[in-house]
Amino acid sequence: MGLSVRMLVAIAFVLTQLVHGALCWGKDGHYTVCKIAEGYFEEETVAAMKRLLPESADGDLAAFCSWPDEIKRLSQWQWTSVLHYVNTPEYRCNYEYCRDCHDSHKHKDWCVTGAIFNYTNQLMSASENSQSIVHYNMTEALMFLSHYMGDVHQPLHTGFLGDLGGNTIIVRWYNRKTNLHHVWDNMIIESALTTYYNSSLPLMIQVLQAKLTNGWSNDVPLWESCQLNQTACPNEYASESIDLACKYAYRNATPGTTLGDDYFLSRLPIVEKRLAQGGIRLATTLNRIFSAKPKLFRL
Ligand code: ADE
Ligand code: ZN
Ligand code: ZN
Repeated sequence: MGLSVRMLVAIAFVLTQLVHGALCWGKDGHYTVCKIAEGYFEEETVAAMKRLLPESADGDLAAFCSWPDEIKRLSQWQWTSVLHYVNTPEYRCNYEYCRDCHDSHKHKDWCVTGAIFNYTNQLMSASENSQSIVHYNMTEALMFLSHYMGDVHQPLHTGFLGDLGGNTIIVRWYNRKTNLHHVWDNMIIESALTTYYNSSLPLMIQVLQAKLTNGWSNDVPLWESCQLNQTACPNEYASESIDLACKYAYRNATPGTTLGDDYFLSRLPIVEKRLAQGGIRLATTLNRIFSAKPKLFRL
């Protein structure tokens, strides 16, 4: 056996890169989206969190928002792994549900926007028919909806099929070798934490919360609104994501590029805004679900 220690270290490194390459907003991104959402929950939503999450969680949704990433490689959950993203055909900077929302075997509705519609419907039907027997696991539905609402706001989760949302675009982030997808899931947030927030995620979340009540306060009602009074409108969020992917994520980030200060400083505001929008939209969606009156009592 001629495998040297160097070789083993190299293999271990490649394996971790592969594993990382396939993740979504990292843990920090999902935690941030769900923490921001919690601040906008109405009373009925707070009560629903206490009902649906394990008692030890004390209603803290954010602690569960990365769960779908933790389980997606287990064989019994592998069917969920295509639900974290949606791809557009090569170089198409627009998104269309019927054209794009399918898995690699063209089964329709199998993508992140289809999953958001599905889990929203499951939670709606359960909260409207509290007397009837519900066949779905509502705790799972809540965790999937909360996670996928974060994912659909990561621009490269609506990316080109040819490069798997930037996963096959190898770049350097400062002096570290990685891929473009991982830069948007993790590295921009990680660099922001060390550069501006003393490595404190709670501090970064506080700053985003302050921006929501000051700088972005006029935009929040627009972010909350959903066309045709729907409960959730993931199609709009995916359209925004591919537009941002084309204008900011893919731009000046061809294979082999070194991304540094210019890229970091110009893209961080996009990442911050997407985390905040994800949080606001998760909160309004859950508020619509859990404050929904039974159909009989609605005008
Ligand atoms: N795999 C294929 N496309 C992907 C995407 N857009 N995001 C994450 N993983 C993917
Ligand atoms: Zn995900
Ligand atoms: Zn990702």
